[in-house]
Order: sequence, then C-alpha cells, then structure tokens
Amino acid sequence: MKKLFFLVLFFITLLFIGCRAEQETVEPQGYIVFGFSQLGDESEWRSAHSHDIKSAAEFEDIQLLFDNAQQQQFNQIKAIRSFILKGVDVIAFSPIVEEGWDNVLMEAREAGIPVIVVDRKIETDDPSLYTAFIGSDFYREGVRAGEFILERFDNVDREIRIAEISGTISSSPMIGRYEGVRSVLNQDPRFEIVISVSGDFMRSRGRESMEVILQETPDIDVLFAHNDDMALGAIEVLEEHGIIPGVDMIIISVDAQTSGLEALRQGRINCLVECSPYIGKELMELALAIVNGEPFNRYTYTETRVFTDRDDFDTLPVR
Ligand code: AHR
Repeated sequence: MKKLFFLVLFFITLLFIGCRAEQETVEPQGYIVFGFSQLGDESEWRSAHSHDIKSAAEFEDIQLLFDNAQQQQFNQIKAIRSFILKGVDVIAFSPIVEEGWDNVLMEAREAGIPVIVVDRKIETDDPSLYTAFIGSDFYREGVRAGEFILERFDNVDREIRIAEISGTISSSPMIGRYEGVRSVLNQDPRFEIVISVSGDFMRSRGRESMEVILQETPDIDVLFAHNDDMALGAIEVLEEHGIIPGVDMIIISVDAQTSGLEALRQGRINCLVECSPYIGKELMELALAIVNGEPFNRYTYTETRVFTDRDDFDTLPVR
C-alpha cells in the first residue's frame, strides 16, 4: 500500500513538472521572441547599451525577454537556461567573463536555438557554439590609447610612469585593452606601466583604485582607465588630493559616454577612445536575418573613434 502511494506521488510530480515546463513556453507577441541576458548595470555605457537594445526591439516589434544578471555569471547561465525552457526564437547575451559558457551553449544548440554573443567575446574550443558576434574590438581600443600616449609624450626625454585602472578581471574588454595598450607601449623603453589595479568598470571602484595608486606609487604621469566611470571616480580622488587631472596627470579612458565627453570638454580628461554601446538596431536586424534564414555577417565590429582635448569640441558626438 505504501509502495503504491509513493508510485502515485511520483507520477503526479512528473506530471506537475511536465505541465510547468509546458507553461513556461511564451506565446510570441511580435515577429520573434528574443531572450537577452545583460550582464549588469555597472556603468553609464551599460545603461545606454540596455536602453538601446530595448528601444530597438520595440521599434522592430520584437518581443524582448530582458534579464539583468547583476554582475554574476551564474545568473546569466540561469537566464539563458530559462530562455531555452521558454522556447524563444533567439538568445543573445553580453558575457561578463570570457570563459565558462560551453555547457549552456550546448544546451541551446540541442534545443535548436541560435545564440548571438553581444558586446564581449567568449573563449571556447568550439566557436560553432554561437551563431554570430556583434560588439567592439577591445584590443584595438587599447592600441588607440597607447598611440595617444606615445604621441602626447613625443618630445619628452625621460621615463613616463603610467597607472592603469583595468575593468573586470577575465572579461574580454579588460583583456583586450590590457594587451592592446601594452603592444604599443612596449615598443618604447621610456614608457612603463608601473601599477595596474582592477576597478571592475565601476565609478566607486575607480575611486578606490586611485586611492591605492596614490598610496603605493608616486609620480604618475598618465592614468589609463578602461572606462569613463572609473576615470571619473579616479578624477574625484585626484582633485581631493590637489592634483589637477588633465594637467598634472594625463587622463585617458575608453567609452566616450556623456559624462566622459563632458569631462573632456572641461579639460579633466585628455583622451577618450570610443566604444559604442549603440548596437540595438544591428542586433535586431541580425536576429531577424538568422531566424528567417537570410544571409548575415558572422562578426560585426563597431567603429572606434578617438576624441582628444585638442579637437574642435563642436565636432564631438552628442549622446
Ligand atoms: O564591455 C564593454 C565595457 O563594459 C565598457 O567599456 C564598460 O563601460 C562596460 O561596463
């Protein structure tokens, strides 16, 4: 009797799980259902990126399921799994770090759902696990920052001491910008990156990183921050210490978002390397092409412009 009770209970549980999985499936309310896992909300760039994706989906009448992973890879994997369960037409995600995606991408492949990697790259032995990539060339951004430093100190005949505030460790923008800037500076023995601290792409962490830099390393000539937010946090600290950013210390950052451009106009930042978050329209077009079986580019890179304190400010982009 007891055995029979547990058997019935077992089948009821199975039935319940089956019904739930079925219930999860979304009824499309637009042309396609698009699941997007955003890595977080750490910077001005990220907010612009999320906003651009949401408005582009609305414009194209695409039903967007948007999940904010709050800076946790675990949450991103969970979100991708839930999109698979819901049977969306296409999945896209901005990976917080490069590694650790293969298993969940295999699950998407088994479910027959195409995946677009957005903004940051992933590291995998099997690149066929994703259908397309759209984002920036972070190595190139590091190179552009290095070229600016070389040019600005062209006539200076002494050691130039550089501090770096890097982005999230093991993320592709951190790795690309870190390697890109070194590929240029290593060619000239005058330049030395004397300290590198991670500020996780956040303004508050940029502040903390600059406190560490000032405590540990005197006489810095240049700050290279991997994004505007961290540069702005660091600038606040410099000003509190009576160091004039843009004059006593040359400041370079990546992104060129609204606050960064404002600081460039004020002379508190000397150089901005652009990283565009505005990929929403291209992303939606790419998703539609993939789902409709039309031709598409597997890799799409955004343009990287450089803005400096010697530019005509009237030509700067308005965000
Ligand atoms: O992946 C793009 C980078 O992530 C941006 O440079 C930064 O601001 C963001 O947080």
